[in-house]
Amino acid sequence: MTESYPLDPARSVAARIPAGHRPPDAARPIRVIAVTSGKGGVGKTTVAINLSTAIASLGKGVTLMDADLGLANVDVMLGLKPVLNLSHVLDGLCGLEDVVVTGPGGINLVPAASGLRRMTMLSKAEHAGLVYAFSGLSDVTDVLVIDTGTGMSDTVATFCSAAQEIILVVTNDPASITDAYATMRILNHDFGRSRFRLLANRCRHPRDGAHLFHELLMMTDRLTGVTIEPLGTIPYDARLQHPAAAAGAHCHRYPGSPVAAAFRQLALDIERWPAPTSLSGGLEFFVERIVRSGVTDPRSQL
Ligand SMILES: Nc1ncnc2c1ncn2[C@@H]1O[C@H](COP(=O)(O)OP(=O)(O)O)[C@@H](O)[C@H]1O
Ligand SMILES: [Mg+2]
Repeated sequence: MTESYPLDPARSVAARIPAGHRPPDAARPIRVIAVTSGKGGVGKTTVAINLSTAIASLGKGVTLMDADLGLANVDVMLGLKPVLNLSHVLDGLCGLEDVVVTGPGGINLVPAASGLRRMTMLSKAEHAGLVYAFSGLSDVTDVLVIDTGTGMSDTVATFCSAAQEIILVVTNDPASITDAYATMRILNHDFGRSRFRLLANRCRHPRDGAHLFHELLMMTDRLTGVTIEPLGTIPYDARLQHPAAAAGAHCHRYPGSPVAAAFRQLALDIERWPAPTSLSGGLEFFVERIVRSGVTDPRSQL
């Protein structure tokens, strides 16, 4: 998309930092949750959107970052058509405020698209500019939810390793279980992550969730130091299958549905997780972690 803009090499995200600006010493801690899976089509985007709106309905400021370049991404699912994305911010063509779209329940959506990979390859000045760009969202963000892409690309790994919490979405399908295990193994071996929260989606029976959890628990026995915690079950709802009906957040359209109730419960459970500490930092520190990671992985798909 950037090609359609008259790019001026002298302009970059760094140029937008006002003279005399100093980075904050301490930022308001935020909770950063990455939603991932390994296998595509298991409901990551559905979970990221509905979890975000459920958390927002508890009065929290929620920012949802679309870190998936796939076709059925967050803006498509929400029926939004953002023209600008993070790559335009990196090019200094606009500020982050021009890119952020308001989604259902007042969530802030950051359409990321092609800017994602570049975030790990910035010059020092661009790096500072990007951190500054995100500082504007800090005041309105208590929770940052990241919808990651499918598979274990370097972008997925980067976002998962910069997040405090990783929600692994699984369905009752052998491929989903194997891919979830492979995802945990890579994030553990290569990125030192040891705690995963398992969310069973598209479950036709409440017992499916417990069954999936036990299956993965037995598999992770082979991964020393890895713990998985069950997050519960999101029921199957055929209304989520139809693109037209799915546009928007299901929880908003059908607040009385079992799916909406499950996401409300999930949001309440998340509130009881240990509070993010100032060590984990605010939104700016999260961006710092992403930018500094500079992960270059031969498995990269982006
Ligand atoms: N709980 C559910 N019940 C029924 N269909 C679901 C459910 N969750 C997701 N889906 C559907 O499954 C498909 C894949 O979901 P999506 O969120 O795009 O997955 P991913 O982001 O993992 O690729 C979509 O058609 C979506 O509407
Ligand atoms: Mg998706």
